[in-house]
Amino acid sequence: MNLKDKIIVKLVVNKGKPVSGEALASELSVSRAAVWKQVKALREEGYIIESSTNLGYSLIKSPDILRPGEIKAGLGTKIIGKEIKYFRETESTNILAKEMADSVDEGTVVIAEFQTEGRGRLGRKWLSPEGGIWLSIILKPRIQPQYTPRLTLLAGVCAAKTIQGMGLPAKIKWPNDILINGKKVCGILTEMGAEVDLVDYIIVGIGIDANVNTESFPEEFRDSSTSLRKELGEDVDRVAFVRKLLIEFEALYLNFLKGDFHSILDEWRSMSATIGEWVKISTQTRTIYGEAIGVDGEGALIIETGEGQLEKIVAGNCEHLRRP
Ligand code: BTN
Repeated sequence: MNLKDKIIVKLVVNKGKPVSGEALASELSVSRAAVWKQVKALREEGYIIESSTNLGYSLIKSPDILRPGEIKAGLGTKIIGKEIKYFRETESTNILAKEMADSVDEGTVVIAEFQTEGRGRLGRKWLSPEGGIWLSIILKPRIQPQYTPRLTLLAGVCAAKTIQGMGLPAKIKWPNDILINGKKVCGILTEMGAEVDLVDYIIVGIGIDANVNTESFPEEFRDSSTSLRKELGEDVDRVAFVRKLLIEFEALYLNFLKGDFHSILDEWRSMSATIGEWVKISTQTRTIYGEAIGVDGEGALIIETGEGQLEKIVAGNCEHLRRP
């Protein structure tokens, strides 16, 4: 962490309360002048920091920036987000995460204020304007490639729980779109690098329309998407949201590493918007209609296509239909 981020951590954990310049300087082993220089730079970035000669600096308000130092203040995770790589702009955090996967520790998070070539599932584009949360988590579990979809389900549970934590009725549409009142607010794209029988890395890309104006989206997405801001009627504190998301992710991931996937699957099922729905599934080769009756341990959707006839679908586009 650079000096500026270290100062931010101290100010954020004491938000509203003064922290003396002398204490900051001695704890961070720098001069008081160096502290002052960084405080000045932070003010220029939009931080409102009051200073008084006797008491020191107190943080009053932060700008809406996903600064790693702020996310880390009070994060307390062991793996997820120990390292956060921040970019104002990038093509896609998933692409960056893949490029750096070999050289960084497990749990490293890549985050950007906006993406120019955001990637969605099934080769689609993902609109990623400023105000959203676009991040990728690099994982290196020692598992066989066929278990990777479990991490996609885990990420869906994580995102839905974090959104529910704000008092919003988030549900998961198979495989892992997060919906609020039937409208999409979050998408997840999991990608992997693997040998034949062992995963090298898994990138879990999570995109959340936080403080995004979905009204300005192209027509085809406008009616089917929503944002946290729209649902809550006010701006979301994106830093606090990311912190909660990473804490939630780590709790689920540690369970996963211990071999407890059942509880994650149970949570997925209890938050599913798809189970019990009449669905149309489009895969690369065919279209299937039927009633979604469950998901199996690998995340495949189980569909009853006729009397007693079941199909398992591993990947595809899912539409909820009116019951015929
Ligand atoms: C979907 O199609 O629903 C998945 C969308 C995933 C978007 C996220 S945003 C962060 C990460 N970087 C990307 O380019 N895509 C994922």
